[in-house]
Amino acid sequence: MGENVAVIGTGYVGLVTGACFAEIGHKVICVDKDQLKIKRLAEAQIPIYEPGLQRMVAEQLEHGRLAFTCHLPKAVEASDIVYIAVGTPSLDNGEVDLSQVKEVVTQIAEAIERASSYRIVVIKSTVPVGTARRMEQMIREGAPSANFAVVANPEFLREGSALHDTFHMDRIVIGCSNTEAGERIGRLHEPFGAPVLYTDRESAELVKYASNAFLAAKISFINEMAHVCDKVGADIELVARGMGMDRRIGSHFLQAGIGYGGSCFPKDTKAQLRIAEDVDYDFKILRSVIEVNALQRERFVHTIERALGGSVKSKRVAVMGLTFKPNTDDLRDAPALDIISSLVDKGAEVRAYDPVALSKAAPLLPQARLVEDPYEALQGADAMIITTEWDTVKALDYTRVKGLLAHPIVIDGRNCFPVERMERLGFRYVSVGRPGSAVEGNA
Ligand code: UDX
Repeated sequence: MGENVAVIGTGYVGLVTGACFAEIGHKVICVDKDQLKIKRLAEAQIPIYEPGLQRMVAEQLEHGRLAFTCHLPKAVEASDIVYIAVGTPSLDNGEVDLSQVKEVVTQIAEAIERASSYRIVVIKSTVPVGTARRMEQMIREGAPSANFAVVANPEFLREGSALHDTFHMDRIVIGCSNTEAGERIGRLHEPFGAPVLYTDRESAELVKYASNAFLAAKISFINEMAHVCDKVGADIELVARGMGMDRRIGSHFLQAGIGYGGSCFPKDTKAQLRIAEDVDYDFKILRSVIEVNALQRERFVHTIERALGGSVKSKRVAVMGLTFKPNTDDLRDAPALDIISSLVDKGAEVRAYDPVALSKAAPLLPQARLVEDPYEALQGADAMIITTEWDTVKALDYTRVKGLLAHPIVIDGRNCFPVERMERLGFRYVSVGRPGSAVEGNA
């Protein structure tokens, strides 16, 4: 049976969650305080690039299972289950900024008190351990006679494949101290067909951080291994394949490159470190994971410098891909942004291409020339630099690319091509951790 669900916050997580709940038959109201955004969403105009989402939102609006409003109290009144999916950005000290969560919890408490019937409040936003418990206290103080439960239900979606991930979830984690409320949230997800793990709230909150920290650790580990491969002449792709065949290790997240970016890994690893610090625990591995990831960008810039004869000063480079990974327009903590800034600081002239994020990137990269045509970026450049493995970059005509470049040098931070193929085409091909890829003095 379909539930009435309110989803507060129409960012990436809230919008995907709302649309997918509607898709499986629930009646969903998505809430945001940004009036213009809500107006556009109600006309099925999606502010983010996520394959399949626009169509799903349009269909569910038409079916009448999805609605958008700025009016939080009305949405809470009309719903039995209230999802909180507002942003939890990092403060400068790594601490999580919970101000948006607290703001909506205050409003939810007032609405629940007025409604005087049972509500389940679910925290979907990524929050530090103990937040669900503290939000329960806040609601209790703001709504002394209210009847409610607070559940922690973290999300594990990847940008660019969020809809696929939602319908093929490895697990749903539901943290709750009230069995009945937890089970109702379990039933809400039943059509997704994923295994459900019921836990206490603190454990659920930690599963999210622990998972992201572990995945980030896999990436930093393989990136360190890639440097070792460069030194000893081994091939990181083969090493990763051999490791991944061991089911205890698994083959995913062993792709060496320029390190992780995005809205989750950088923020969540720092937050987890902070959570440990707050309880006087020095999480050494995680500290190294973060450090290695930051170094990875610097090392890539050094690789570029060395490939261009020791300096990028007055060199023209074409940077391919700005987003932190393909199939998203998200530029948050994207390695390409740091790499371009550093190249510009060192005196390079940068032309950059991205298939979807150029307008978003314009204010962030005033020093680079952003171009819509990759071939235009490559014309006369001293090197091509690949920072995001977009299909449009991989599918370029590389014979033409070679003809356009002033020097046939490709420096690939994502290992997009077999080394032999690029060498056969006549490129000097520098990639990450593969034979033939190391440049003299590689770190
Ligand atoms: C991640 C988690 O995967 C997801 O479960 C969580 O809910 C949110 O954070 P996302 O940030 O969308 O998802 O992207 P993901 O596909 O995990 O990639 C993150 C970054 O790691 C990207 O910059 C990607 O390029 C990099 N990465 C990933 C690697 O460098 N190597 C890999 O093997 C995998």
